[in-house]
Amino acid sequence: MQLKTVENYEEMSRVACSVIIQRIQQLENPVLGLATGSTPEGLYKQMIEQYKQKNVSFESVRTFNLDEYVGLTKENEQSYDFYMKDNLFQHIDIDQANTHLPNGVAADLDKECIDYEARIEQAGGIDVQVLGIGLNGHIGFNEPGTNFSSRTHIIDLAPSTRKANARFFEDLAEVPEKAITMGIETIMQSKEILLLVSGEKKAEAVSRMIKGEISEEFPASILQKHPNVTVIGDEAALSLL
Ligand code: F6R
Repeated sequence: MQLKTVENYEEMSRVACSVIIQRIQQLENPVLGLATGSTPEGLYKQMIEQYKQKNVSFESVRTFNLDEYVGLTKENEQSYDFYMKDNLFQHIDIDQANTHLPNGVAADLDKECIDYEARIEQAGGIDVQVLGIGLNGHIGFNEPGTNFSSRTHIIDLAPSTRKANARFFEDLAEVPEKAITMGIETIMQSKEILLLVSGEKKAEAVSRMIKGEISEEFPASILQKHPNVTVIGDEAALSLL
């Protein structure tokens, strides 16, 4: 794992953006894996800014998001589909048909999981996957205990994750109990991973991810085995290393 220590959230977002733009320029048909949540919001702002300044075009880019809540339609403002349009897709020149998120309201969710994997494979796999990390070590929505050999699947959100994400909803009861997420193996097959992390709150999780035992009880620990991971973290997040 490579570590890039930056000063703060702003710099984390700028550094991540410059790596992504480099990859978009280097690759013929770049495939990006994207995350939601608070962590990548600054990165998406930077990407929009770089697009506006004509430093990058997303015309050749395809994207696959890590996860989506089960039961929320695309129109629901808390859905990750809505988040991606609102925070990134509708502000850049990406072809919406090239953007993919799991469909959390598919009639047959098991089939949706298989289809999502197939779509990633057809695209040639993910070139660069952006990740955040949950306080309990989750990546995507792979909660502690998830099998390291998992592919896209349906999971029960941990009570602590529902609580952490309740800030985006009117109240805790509205936070869905299930989600559809790329599996650990799906994530591990990405050619490159950029894990972004900011703030003291995440320091313990980062330390366990990098220095802790590799265990399904702390999903992010598996990243120690990936050959091309860069952790871009601010001083507060990396303070326990
Ligand atoms: C989001 C995702 C999650 C988040 C994690 C951290 O698509 O897959 O793993 O990256 O929950 O969330 P924030 O960034 O809100 O602290």
